[in-house]
Amino acid sequence: MKNILIIGGAKGIGQAMAQCYLNQGHQLISTSRQYKHCDLKQNHLYCDLNQQESIATAFELIRAKFKHIDVLINCAAVLHTDHYQPEKSLKRVKQDHLIHNYQVNAIGHLLVLNHAEKLLSRAKQAVAVSISARIGSIEDNHLGGWYAYRMSKAALNMGIKTLSIEWHRKHPHIQFILLHPGTTDTALSKPFQKRLPQGQLQTADETAAMMIEQIEKNQQHSHKEALFLDYAGQTIPW
Ligand SMILES: NC(=O)c1ccc[n+]([C@@H]2O[C@H](COP(=O)([O-])OP(=O)(O)OC[C@H]3O[C@@H](n4cnc5c(N)ncnc54)[C@H](OP(=O)(O)O)[C@@H]3O)[C@@H](O)[C@H]2O)c1
Repeated sequence: MKNILIIGGAKGIGQAMAQCYLNQGHQLISTSRQYKHCDLKQNHLYCDLNQQESIATAFELIRAKFKHIDVLINCAAVLHTDHYQPEKSLKRVKQDHLIHNYQVNAIGHLLVLNHAEKLLSRAKQAVAVSISARIGSIEDNHLGGWYAYRMSKAALNMGIKTLSIEWHRKHPHIQFILLHPGTTDTALSKPFQKRLPQGQLQTADETAAMMIEQIEKNQQHSHKEALFLDYAGQTIPW
């Protein structure tokens, strides 16, 4: 039985992954802004990546109950809100939207890992997964658009790759993976599903099963640097 921590485990892909791990009999700890109060019995913790203090509080509670984490999966990201949509052109780019995307999609992931270092280092073999997106690949960018989301995912990739090099020296048993889930039917992708070619939209359950397979395949390795993979295990260029 592994200790699995999912940041953003109450919605979309995170929720589907949480259910898979529960079905496999693992110990699950899940965070969400929907959990208004921390419920330690259920391992449900409030955590808002926009608020440093809430990350610190969630981890204080986790450390009080658990000695180690085997698998940390950070699913948190924002693409659109009630107040803004992804930008098709520079004219639509707004400073506060950029900052919000960076805060949740990139900075928040690094802050979480800072708090998780001891817990991951105490596992025999640990894996730290950040759900990224192919759109964060600089080399693969032939479409343009979606500035804030695209830039924040590229920043996430750079942050995680940099951390993987730093920690490889002291914690070679922690593997980092940036995973692209593929287009999945969730609230995040809902407004952009109309023009998708038939058969390209995965359910959250399908995505979760494929991602867990990739995590298991790569967990045993001790790659010096983070991997950037899609749901089928194909390497994505940086
Ligand atoms: N769906 C796709 O087609 C697709 C494609 C490529 C990449 N992805 C990536 O897959 C991951 C999961 O997305 P999804 O499709 O499952 O979308 P979703 O259903 O909208 O879930 C978004 C997740 O982000 C969390 N989140 C948002 N703002 C947060 C904040 N301030 N603090 C903490 N958590 C926050 C939400 O948690 P709360 O419960 O707190 O709201 C939720 O768990 C994201 O990283 C996304 O970029 C998705």
